Amino acid sequence: MDIWRIRGGHRLTGVCFVQGSKNASLPILAASMLAPAETELQNVPQLKDIDAALRILRHLGCEAEQRENEVYIDARGVSRCFIPHKLMLEMRSSVIFMGALLARCGEARLSPPGGCQLGKRPIDLHLAALRQLGAQIEEDGDEILCRAGRLRGTELLLPFPSVGATENIMLAATAAEGETVIRGAAREPEITALQDYLVKLGFAVSGAGTERIVIGGRRRVEHIEHRVLADRIVASTVACAAAACGGSVELRGVEPEHFSTVLHFLKQAGCDIIIKNRSVWLRSGGRLYGVGPVRTEPYPGFPTDAQPVLMAALLKARGRSVITETIFENRFRQVPELKRLGADITLRGQSAEIWGVDSLHGTVLNATDLRGGAAMIVAGLTAEGETQVFDEGHIRRGYERFDARLRALGADICLDQY
Ligand code: UD1
Repeated sequence: MDIWRIRGGHRLTGVCFVQGSKNASLPILAASMLAPAETELQNVPQLKDIDAALRILRHLGCEAEQRENEVYIDARGVSRCFIPHKLMLEMRSSVIFMGALLARCGEARLSPPGGCQLGKRPIDLHLAALRQLGAQIEEDGDEILCRAGRLRGTELLLPFPSVGATENIMLAATAAEGETVIRGAAREPEITALQDYLVKLGFAVSGAGTERIVIGGRRRVEHIEHRVLADRIVASTVACAAAACGGSVELRGVEPEHFSTVLHFLKQAGCDIIIKNRSVWLRSGGRLYGVGPVRTEPYPGFPTDAQPVLMAALLKARGRSVITETIFENRFRQVPELKRLGADITLRGQSAEIWGVDSLHGTVLNATDLRGGAAMIVAGLTAEGETQVFDEGHIRRGYERFDARLRALGADICLDQY
């Protein structure tokens, strides 16, 4: 059990070097087993989900090690095509090993993935697309068995731009005969990051960042070096914390364009924001204005992952804010906990109405999921007295040394692990 203890009321000031992206690293780790090659990755965050992915790679026969923020993978020795249930349950992204295994071994045996309980989170789009590429898939209780003697390139249309399904198709299609075209593809920066890595690995992939991605042939490559991009959700979280606490924070090493929708609402809330190349400078007086309507949408819309932390930043804002969640049906799990701090939030279906209150009062909260837990920390930083967030490890799945990074900016926060 992790207990995050926060004494609120401190302004945040200083420079924050934003960690590498979890959601960009995980598909790249799955992709690293596509070819019998060695990969060196830089800027990989040290997180529980990354550990889980490295354990899956080792189970499959790869050498996989992390030292600080560098990861080394040798995928020449892949010898297995199944992933045990226990490893699958550790995170949502384990599902993208399905496409990678199909491509490398022609077979994948795994169970439905774990991860945050944000709603139904089906994988029907992944399975339908892999079938269209020629995979035979049987679902037998808790096991999914995929086989493909031969994968054939084809044109696929995704009815919703699912990030995970787009990644799975890109990975599987690297082994298909002929060209695969994905229409209606997700356009998130993490998809472009996966394409960049696949290109280095020798695959002909183009179009990422648009709704049409084309995957073609391959040339032989034996050694790849690659740097993971900065985490736009961690950057958004620190920006929301600084906005709510007041102060002046510089986020370094980021791609400002990747979280411009979040910055847009923080500006609307009254923050000064200056963008210079790969850094964002945010200054806030601490008392924000209500914003909205905010609506989560596939990229380039407002990210669902930043919704809970923006909500937390707005709890003391003057007036009303409205946030609508359109991606996951169960993504307001932080709300009952934030209300325990004294927040005024009303849920109406998929929308939350927030009326700013004058003060929040620290108490004991339970982290419900990764981003919901981060939201509780942001709220705790603005509450009077001590807030304790009890957490079964959700927050450490996505935030590297979060307590230390916030402390460096002046926050009074510590993490006790039991
Ligand atoms: C989602 C986010 C992504 C974020 C990640 C981690 C979106 C569009 N995607 O990606 O930005 O980094 O969570 O929290 O915001 N769906 C189906 N069938 C499928 C797959 C998905 O119905 O086979 C539905 C889901 O139930 C959900 C929506 O599509 O309503 C989003 O799915 P998807 O993009 O696949 O989710 P993740 O890949 O988890």
